[in-house]
Amino acid sequence: MQPVRLIVNRVPHHVRVDTRATLLDTLRERLGLTGAKKGCDHGQCGTCTVLVGDRRVYACLALTVALDGAEITTVEGLAAGGEPHPLQRAFIDHGAVGCGYCAPGQLCSAVAILADVARGAPSAATADLSAPPRLDLDEVRERMSGNICRCGCYGRIAEAITEVAATPRAERPPP
Ligand code: FES
Repeated sequence: MQPVRLIVNRVPHHVRVDTRATLLDTLRERLGLTGAKKGCDHGQCGTCTVLVGDRRVYACLALTVALDGAEITTVEGLAAGGEPHPLQRAFIDHGAVGCGYCAPGQLCSAVAILADVARGAPSAATADLSAPPRLDLDEVRERMSGNICRCGCYGRIAEAITEVAATPRAERPPP
C-alpha cells in the first residue's frame, strides 16, 4: 500500500492504494466517482477516459501510484458554476448520447482534443503540418478514434464537437 495525493475535479484527496490499483478503480471504488466507466478494462474502448491536466488517459491503464500529485478531471468535473460544459450542452443538442455508457469518456476526449488543437498538436489526419490544425470532421474522426460507441452515435458526436470547435473561445460559455 502506498499513500497518494490526487486532486480530482479541483478537490484534493489523500488515499492509500495498492500499488497495482488502476486510476479507474481508485476513482470508482475509493473516491466514489463512478462517471468514468469500465468497459474493456484493457485500453481498447475509451469509456474510462479522464483528463490528467489537459491530456486524456485511459484510466484503466494508468496506475494510481504513478499519478501522485496529479490534477485529474472526470466527467463529474466538466460542468462549472452550475452550467454544463459547452461540449455537454452540444452533445445534448445534437442527440449525441445513445445508451450513455461511453459518453463520459467521449466528453473527456472531446475536451482534450480542443486543448490539443489549441496548442497546435497535429494528428494523423493533419495534411499541412506547417499550419495550425483545425477541427474539421476528418480531424475529429481521427482524434476521437480511441473512443468506441456501441450505439453508433459517431456522426452526432462529431457534429457536436465540430460545432463547439467552430465557436470562438470568447463566445463559448465558460467551461
Ligand atoms: Fe479503459 Fe476500455 S475500460 S479503455
